[in-house]
Amino acid sequence: MLMSSSGEKRVPFTPVFKLINDAKKRLEGYKYKIIVLSGKGGVGKTFISSSIALGLAIRGRKVAILDADVHGSSIPLMLGIQGARHYADENGDILPVEGPLGVKAVAINLMLDSPDLPVVWRGPLVSRAITELLSKVAWGSGDYLVIDMPPGTGDAAITLVQSLPSITGAIIVTAPNMLTETIVAKAVNFTAKNNVRLLGIVENMSYFKCPVCGTVFNLLGKSTGEYLASKYGTVLLGMIPLDPLINEAVDKGVPYLLAYPHGEAAKAIMELVDKIIKNTEAN
Ligand SMILES: Nc1ncnc2c1ncn2[C@@H]1O[C@H](COP(=O)(O)OP(=O)(O)OP(=O)(O)O)[C@@H](O)[C@H]1O
Ligand SMILES: [Mg+2]
Repeated sequence: MLMSSSGEKRVPFTPVFKLINDAKKRLEGYKYKIIVLSGKGGVGKTFISSSIALGLAIRGRKVAILDADVHGSSIPLMLGIQGARHYADENGDILPVEGPLGVKAVAINLMLDSPDLPVVWRGPLVSRAITELLSKVAWGSGDYLVIDMPPGTGDAAITLVQSLPSITGAIIVTAPNMLTETIVAKAVNFTAKNNVRLLGIVENMSYFKCPVCGTVFNLLGKSTGEYLASKYGTVLLGMIPLDPLINEAVDKGVPYLLAYPHGEAAKAIMELVDKIIKNTEAN
């Protein structure tokens, strides 16, 4: 402890590299760390990452999820733990909130006085806040840590990737139609530049299957998942259909996968989860 000339107590400012090292150590208890990203907002990144986490828990894995989207934190809503709050233990370590099926969740939104308040941090502050947060969470141990990445491929995303120990792989979420091509390219380049293995692409909102007649409609345009996967030398891990029940579940504050386990998208998600397990645990 230092003292200023006027007698005030001073503690040294923790340098970022120390925070990054602390963050890495804290996360070493998880065998597999999967980042979920997309080059563009609104394609269902949060829905897919929260559903993967729940699906892995359904398959008996011990799972944690990090909502790293500081400005658009919505994992709590999709996990049905919106009203919960983070607490700290006697050492000041942040305790994750326990969600359904024992999924441990950490989200900035659950630390704010009100989840409706905007987070007004700018670039460098967001990066530091993410690292600082990660360096103080008592994660414990488990099988999978799923990370809903901050949108885009800028500062916050880079800092986060640098603060994680040995990332198992990345999943890129996209939606149909050719406009997504450059967006997926950005996300693919991001993983390559940061030496993260690409597990594959998930095309969300791929199609809509009429529950009455079974006809399949390409409401958002032609599927480009297969094309993009082969263009970037990866695989299409799943095509998740549009399902109005997803938004119904969000509105009710319950996780879709648990509320509608036989829903059209739920079946596709569980197939995706099984592929992820096969792909990660076999290596
Ligand atoms: N397959 C789907 N069928 C129907 N609605 C969906 C589907 N996937 C996601 N949605 C809905 O689309 C909206 C956007 O999804 P989500 O919040 O997961 O996207 P995001 O990529 O995380 O967005 P942001 O960039 O804002 O973080 C949500 O209202 C969600 O409930
Ligand atoms: Mg999101």
